[in-house]
Amino acid sequence: MTAAVSGADDLRHLVIREEAGGDAAAIDRVTQDAFRDHPFSQQTEHRIVRALRGSGALGLSLVATVGEEVVGHVAFSPVTIDGIDRGWWGLGPLSVAPARQRCGIGSALVRSGLRRLGERPVPGCVVLGDPAYYARFGFAPIAGLRLPGPPADHFMAWAREGPVPEGEVAYHPAFSAPP
Ligand SMILES: CC(C)(COP(=O)(O)OP(=O)(O)OC[C@H]1O[C@@H](n2cnc3c(N)ncnc32)[C@H](O)[C@@H]1OP(=O)(O)O)[C@@H](O)C(=O)NCCC(=O)NCCS
Repeated sequence: MTAAVSGADDLRHLVIREEAGGDAAAIDRVTQDAFRDHPFSQQTEHRIVRALRGSGALGLSLVATVGEEVVGHVAFSPVTIDGIDRGWWGLGPLSVAPARQRCGIGSALVRSGLRRLGERPVPGCVVLGDPAYYARFGFAPIAGLRLPGPPADHFMAWAREGPVPEGEVAYHPAFSAPP
């Protein structure tokens, strides 16, 4: 059994590492738990992660652990811009276990992910989410880089190098996982 850990202790014992062989079930669980009460969720996020993994598109998959417990997860996968692979990636889903939220775990996952993307030839990354949250990591709406559907200010880009390309972004087909 894992001892209850307070917010401050969470960060002290927090480890961010790449997904390993036996993590899939725990990632499923933390993703489902995180999105259970999310107002815009169709509860498909865990299926999206699975579908990305199954199609080899889960290019970077990080888990946050406290002891043996997986307390958070973030997925990164390639996106296309106007149907072309420009080397850009998309962040998401991002999940933190409800009891562990607001302790800095989500921030640690995002920062670690962006740092790791920076070690690869990845010029930038997009995210669909709350600007109040993602702005702190350097994400900002970019005129010209569009995702059809959601409000424009919720679709943001983080550019590591070079100009931000223009065009319509498409996530991997795994994001169309049925509810
Ligand atoms: C969003 C989520 C990943 C954030 O992880 P977290 O570990 O709770 O966040 P952190 O502790 O790193 O950051 C906390 C800060 O973010 C803010 N924050 C947390 N969730 C937020 C949200 N959905 N929108 C805006 N701000 C948010 C908090 O107010 C806090 O702000 P402060 O630092 O100014 O006090 C987590 O709340 C979660 O799993 N939510 C359900 C799933 C979800 O919404 N995923 C993201 C979809 S894009």
